[in-house]
This record gives sequence, C-alpha cells and structure tokens, in this order.
Amino acid sequence: MEQKPAAASQPVDAGQFKIGMRTLAGAVNIITSMHAGHRHGMTATAVCSATAEPPTVLVCINKLAATHNAVAKSKVFCVNVLRAEDWHLSTAFSGAQGGDTRFKNGNWTRLATGAPVLIDALVSFDCRVVKTLTHGSHTVFLGQVEQMLIGQKGKPLLYSEGQYAKLASLTLGEPLPEGLDYWGF
Ligand SMILES: Cc1cc2nc3c(=O)[nH]c(=O)nc-3n(C[C@H](O)[C@H](O)[C@H](O)COP(=O)(O)O)c2cc1C
Repeated sequence: MEQKPAAASQPVDAGQFKIGMRTLAGAVNIITSMHAGHRHGMTATAVCSATAEPPTVLVCINKLAATHNAVAKSKVFCVNVLRAEDWHLSTAFSGAQGGDTRFKNGNWTRLATGAPVLIDALVSFDCRVVKTLTHGSHTVFLGQVEQMLIGQKGKPLLYSEGQYAKLASLTLGEPLPEGLDYWGF
C-alpha cells in the first residue's frame, strides 16, 4: 500500500540539502593538480567511478576552491584515496593552510600527468580531464585515468555525519558469487 510522505513536499534549500547529505557516508580522497609549476590539493568526498570503458572518474569541485582553477586550467588531476589512519591528511587539505604548504604532510610522487600522487594512498587515479559541466556552485570534471598506482593496504577513511569513520565489514548473508561485483552486469 502506498504511504503518504511524513511532511508535505516543499522545495529543498541548500541548508536542508546539506542536512540530508550529512547522512550520505563517503570515502575521503585528496584531489591534486599541478598548474604553472605549483602543486594544489584539497579534500573531497564528491568522487566516484564514472565508466570502466574508458576508465573514467568524476569529481565535483567548488568553484571557489583554489584547486578548481588549477584543474580547469591544467586539465589534469589525481584522485588519492585515503586510508583511515591518514585522517590528518584530510584535515590538512581542507584547513587554513593552503597551496604547497599542504604537501608537507604525506609522501608524494608523480605519474603521467604530473599531478601529485600520494604514496600512502590506498590507490591513486592519475587523470586527464575529458569533459566538464559547471552547475551552480560546483564544476563536475570527468577525468580519463591515464595511470593508476595501487598503493598501501588498509581500510578506507570514511566521512559521515560530520565525523571521520572507519569501515566495519558485515558478515551477514552470503558473499557475492566469485567474479560478480559492481561491474558484473
Ligand atoms: C570530508 C570533506 C569532504 C569534502 N568534500 C569536498 C568535495 O567533494 N568538493 C569540494 O569542492 N569541497 C569539498 N570539501 C571542502 C574542501 O576540502 C575545502 O573547502 C578546501 O579547503 C578547499 O581548498 P582551498 O582551501 O585550497 O580552496 C570537503 C571537505 C571535507 C573536510
């Protein structure tokens, strides 16, 4: 039987939207770029896989972020997926200090595009921008993965309800059949 919604349907403003989005747990990443000889980087949860063929990831960056300009101009970025124990890197890359100072935290190298690659990450996706879509406060960048570095073993850093969290595996139910995963359709 169809149930009526608890509250009457009303337009959703930015404040309400943010309250709702706090419950959407996300993996924490550092998006980096290299522009005019300068390194840029920022913490981001708005990252997801877009397509496997070709290997492409999607990131959403606020137009006011310093890294936005760097990605827009250089057309390169790297997504570095953080380990739970590296939560302090997330703080450093979203904090008061900006620019190159942020890279004093962590161990960094480079791959094909020249964007900074975090050696301590679970995995790093080194990307070249193939499409952009600006919508409201943010730009969505689609980046084709040119190189990938499988980094350290560990658990991912999560962010939920305004707090850092660590993944806890559930052992309920049967595991997926061998070979069947998200890409298995
Ligand atoms: C857990 C977490 C997730 C974030 N996710 C995003 C995101 O997906 N996109 C974004 O534009 N900013 C995001 N931010 C905010 C930026 O990291 C922050 O504004 C950063 O300082 C921007 O870099 P800037 O100071 O060099 O401009 C996030 C911050 C935190 C703490």
